[in-house]
Amino acid sequence: MRKNIAVIKGDGIGPEIVSQAILVLNVLAFKYHFNFEYTEVDMGACAIDKYGTPLPDNTLTVCKNADAILFGAIGDPKYDLDPHAKIRPEQGLLKLRKSLNLFANIRPTTIYPSLVNLSPLKNNLLEGVDFVIFRELTSGIYFGHKEVLENGLAAQDVCYYHQSEIERILHLAFKEAQNRNKKLCLVDKANVLETSRLWRKTAQALQTQYSDVILSFLFVDNAAMQLILNPKQFDVIVTENMFGDILSDEASVMSGSLGMAPSASISNTIALFEPIHGSYPQAAGKNIANPMATILSAAMMLDYFGLKDAALNIRNAIMQCLNEGITTQDLNSQNFVTTSQITQEIIKRL
Ligand code: IPM
Ligand code: MG
Repeated sequence: MRKNIAVIKGDGIGPEIVSQAILVLNVLAFKYHFNFEYTEVDMGACAIDKYGTPLPDNTLTVCKNADAILFGAIGDPKYDLDPHAKIRPEQGLLKLRKSLNLFANIRPTTIYPSLVNLSPLKNNLLEGVDFVIFRELTSGIYFGHKEVLENGLAAQDVCYYHQSEIERILHLAFKEAQNRNKKLCLVDKANVLETSRLWRKTAQALQTQYSDVILSFLFVDNAAMQLILNPKQFDVIVTENMFGDILSDEASVMSGSLGMAPSASISNTIALFEPIHGSYPQAAGKNIANPMATILSAAMMLDYFGLKDAALNIRNAIMQCLNEGITTQDLNSQNFVTTSQITQEIIKRL
C-alpha cells in the first residue's frame, strides 16, 4: 500500500498538531507495512506572508495529484480583526474546496465516557449519542454571487443550489445511513427558502432508491434546539453549507472538547482530512495544543484508504489514553501532558 499525502500544516498550532499526526502515521506505516510519502505545501496566512496569496498554484497542483490531503488549520487574528482586508487566509481553504470539488464535509460526533463531565450537556443526555453530520461544502451562500452595492451601504450573498449538487451529497448521506442506524434527517429552512424546498424535493425523490432508510426533515432553528435537547435522536444529518457550518460547531463541543473533533471533506476522487478546530494562535508554538482531533482525522484518512485496522488502532489508543486520564491541558487543567507527550502516549498504545 503506497499513498501520496499532501500535507498542509497552515497557521497557528497547525504545524505542531500535523507533525504529531505524521509521527503516528509513520508508526502505523511501519507496523502494517504501508508506504506513505508526504509532500508539504503552504496555505493560509503563512502563504500570504510568503507568496502574497493564501493558496499558491503549487499547493493546488500538489493537492490535485495527491491521494489525500492532511490539513492542520488556517487563520490569523490580524485578518479576523480587519474587515477591510482584501486577501484573507480562509479564501485559500474555500478555493481549495471548490477546486478539488470537496463537496461533502463529514463530521462525526463521538462521546468519550471519560470526558462526559466536560460536556456542556448533562450526562443523561449524552448516553447513546452517536451521529454524523454531512455538510454540503462547495455551494450555497458560501459560493453564490457576492456583491457590495450602493457605495458600500448594502451587500448581498446569493444562496444558489443546483439539483445535481444536492443529489450527490444526498446519495452519500443515504448510503451512510444504510451502514448505520438507517435514519437520515435533512435540516433545512423549507418554510422560508426556495433552495431548501429544492433540497426537500430532491431528498424525497431519492428516497425511493433507499427504501430501508427513514427520511425525516427538521427546520434548522428547531434542529439547533433538538441537538442540545435530545441529541441521541440523530443518526445521519445532512444539510446545506452554512447550516452545516453552524450545527457542526454546536455538535462538536458535545463530546467535551473541540480538541477531539475530526473531519473529512471528500470529492469523488480525493479527500482532505482536518480537525474541526481552528488555528488557536494563542497556543501556537507552546506545545500545549491537543493533537487528538488531527490524529483522529488521520484515522479517518486511513479509513478512506480502506485501512480499517490501522484506523481502529488509533481510535483505541486514544480511548485508552483518555480512560487512563492522560490528556492535554484543554481536557484537564490540573493534570496534563504536552502535545508531544500525548502523541508518545498514543504511540505506546498502538
Ligand atoms: C469550517 C470553517 C470554515 C468554514 C472557515 C474557516 C472558512 O469554519 O471549516 O467549518 O466556514 O467553512
Ligand atoms: Mg466552521
